[in-house]
Amino acid sequence: MAVNPVYEKLICCYESIKEKIPFQPKVALILGSGLGDYADGFPAEGVIDYHEIAGFPVSTVPGHKGRFIFTHVEGTPVVMMQGRVHYYEGYAMSDVVLPARLMRMMGAEILFLTNAAGGVNYDFSAGDFMLIRDQISCFVPSPLLGPNAEELGPRFADMSHIYDEDLQQIIRDSASEMNLSIKEGVYLQLTGPAYESPAEVKMCRILGADAVGMSTACEAVAANHMGCRICGISCISNLACGMTDQPLSHKEVQETADRVAPLFKELVTRSIQKMG
Ligand code: HPA
Repeated sequence: MAVNPVYEKLICCYESIKEKIPFQPKVALILGSGLGDYADGFPAEGVIDYHEIAGFPVSTVPGHKGRFIFTHVEGTPVVMMQGRVHYYEGYAMSDVVLPARLMRMMGAEILFLTNAAGGVNYDFSAGDFMLIRDQISCFVPSPLLGPNAEELGPRFADMSHIYDEDLQQIIRDSASEMNLSIKEGVYLQLTGPAYESPAEVKMCRILGADAVGMSTACEAVAANHMGCRICGISCISNLACGMTDQPLSHKEVQETADRVAPLFKELVTRSIQKMG
């Protein structure tokens, strides 16, 4: 059989770190903007720096660390990905999703995605959280393009329930325990790195999106292909371009994400506890 270079690279990365994996994680958590220091709240039982993994994509975005952290969150074994890589940094899409695939290979059953995103829905406000119910990923290349690695999943993967219903309910329950009202909706991934024009934001809304960002949907496609159960929460760090008078800046995105980070952390912790 022909060698599949994407699969070969994944196996190579896995082989190079398998001795350093302290336990089989149940949940793989990808930390988005605002949650970057989430891992600091838990004693690390293992750390693998991305630099230690041969051929592994390392983020170039300032403020994005790059490592896997293994810890227990309220009893649930978790691997956290501190620092993700984005397609706009210039990596092949197969490299962008490699860390998510690797965490699945470590044995994670659940992929918990987080991000900062622009609100496209006029009912949203900066600082809201949006439970991701579904996504639009067709503006970025599919991570499944090219020869299919049958070891990972089928050629024509079903995407009818990317976001697991039971996991969504866990997040809703956790929010209501906190008396936190959260939004729900569809996440649309664009390549970035520029923020959208007002016309593009309008397009996203017409297409059925509630939030727009530059990550997440591709990771969900790759993990769904591998049979992972998936859930995700967007921190609505701003209303998307053209919806307010203000120009949009990365600083504003970061400041809002930081402001609501304590609530975001509590929501994630309570949810992961119930996933154990
Ligand atoms: N657009 C795209 N990505 C984002 C935004 C936005 O408005 N805010 C945070 N990430």
